[in-house]
Amino acid sequence: MNVLVIGNGGREHAVLLALKKSPKVDKLYCMKGNAGTAEIAENVNVDYMDIEAVKKFALENPQIDYYVVTPDDPLAIGLVDALESIGKRCFGPNKAAAQIEASKAFAKELMHKYGIPTAKSKTFDNYGDALDYVRAEGAPIVLKADGLALGKGVLVCETLKDAEEGLKEIMLDKAFGAAGNKIVIEECMCGLKYTPGEEVSVLCFTDGKTIVPMITSCDHKRAFDGDKGLNTGGMGTFSPCPFWTKELEKEVYDTILLPTVNALNSEGKPFKGCLYFGLMRTDKGMKVVEYNSRFGDPETQVVLPMLKTDLMDIFEAVTEERLSDIKIEWENGACVCVVVASGGYPVSYTKGKPITIGDTGETVIVHAGTAIKDGKLVTNGGRVLGVVAKGKDIEEAREKAYKAVDNISFENMFYRKVIGIKYREV
Ligand code: AMP
Ligand code: GLY
Repeated sequence: MNVLVIGNGGREHAVLLALKKSPKVDKLYCMKGNAGTAEIAENVNVDYMDIEAVKKFALENPQIDYYVVTPDDPLAIGLVDALESIGKRCFGPNKAAAQIEASKAFAKELMHKYGIPTAKSKTFDNYGDALDYVRAEGAPIVLKADGLALGKGVLVCETLKDAEEGLKEIMLDKAFGAAGNKIVIEECMCGLKYTPGEEVSVLCFTDGKTIVPMITSCDHKRAFDGDKGLNTGGMGTFSPCPFWTKELEKEVYDTILLPTVNALNSEGKPFKGCLYFGLMRTDKGMKVVEYNSRFGDPETQVVLPMLKTDLMDIFEAVTEERLSDIKIEWENGACVCVVVASGGYPVSYTKGKPITIGDTGETVIVHAGTAIKDGKLVTNGGRVLGVVAKGKDIEEAREKAYKAVDNISFENMFYRKVIGIKYREV
């Protein structure tokens, strides 16, 4: 099979690396890709947000048998629907199902309607009403822009003043553009002094009937150590989640995973692809923080290296709605990904800085924001590389990863030093 993966980041490089191991896969393509994907796939220079251009490419390239649509934005505008309409097989939800991520208001409504545990919330499209509600509820309080905002549209506000300012930024100043036309205002699930590390990412394969959780992972979302700074797309991950147990998995499967699949079916929006559950452990059990309609970035970088089963077999089983027929197996041990970023991320940063990569030992370097310029590897984004290491436990994996990070450099490079030790970090 010839397979094309859509996207430019570390997650896409990680998906390609997993597909490369499949004996079924002949040739890989990536649209548009980065310097890392170019090493194992043919990069295709087509704008994947231009649906007509992608369709034209697909019709002109009948040798490509299967499309994997990974980023949230093309899913939200219906790229899977478009490819399927011309007979192409895809991994990824259609536009209707992708709403579970593309609209936080829709996701919250779904959870409230079907009794799926989540924080209390209310949705507003009017600034005045939203402000009244924020003042009535008081701080701490969480503000969420309804639409897609590169993982940055959530403000956890510790004081009423922060909340009032945040509300203005989102709804009046449009800090996240049209994503802030509507806002979800949510109860803060853990108060101010929450213990970092009570969150877990549960990525699942689902064909709309069966849902199978992957090995768990944890993300470090804040930009700086001490869990300071803005939320980012993710500064590093580790797998598995240390507090995860078989009992917890059963609780989550019964109260969250299966009810979500059923709720989407009841709404006439069956979901096929990777459904990602961002969960928080609270004193009232596990609750949903967010849904994503896709693989997480950088969760995928630590989850897929642990997969023993052929990823292409799983993708095809999802497409053909026979996921219940296959057994999905995971390695023992642990995996850590340290993200190396451009100074200034997630706000503003410069691109085009030459990257030097020395001895990186047994790690795998997953490329995110990289490009080749005049024959040289240069930075081309906020998150530049992910350094991925496996070990018998998280300690061993993180040691290997940080040893490799020491041998990588570019101007203004920064990274968090505590990836994998989240539970001891305050
Ligand atoms: P999201 O983009 O929805 O995952 O939110 C980003 C981060 O904000 C989450 O990973 C949490 O750490 C935090 N967050 C979101 N919602 C809440 C909430 N209701 N209570 C506390 N923290 C939250
Ligand atoms: N790492 C969080 C996300 O992919 O949204």
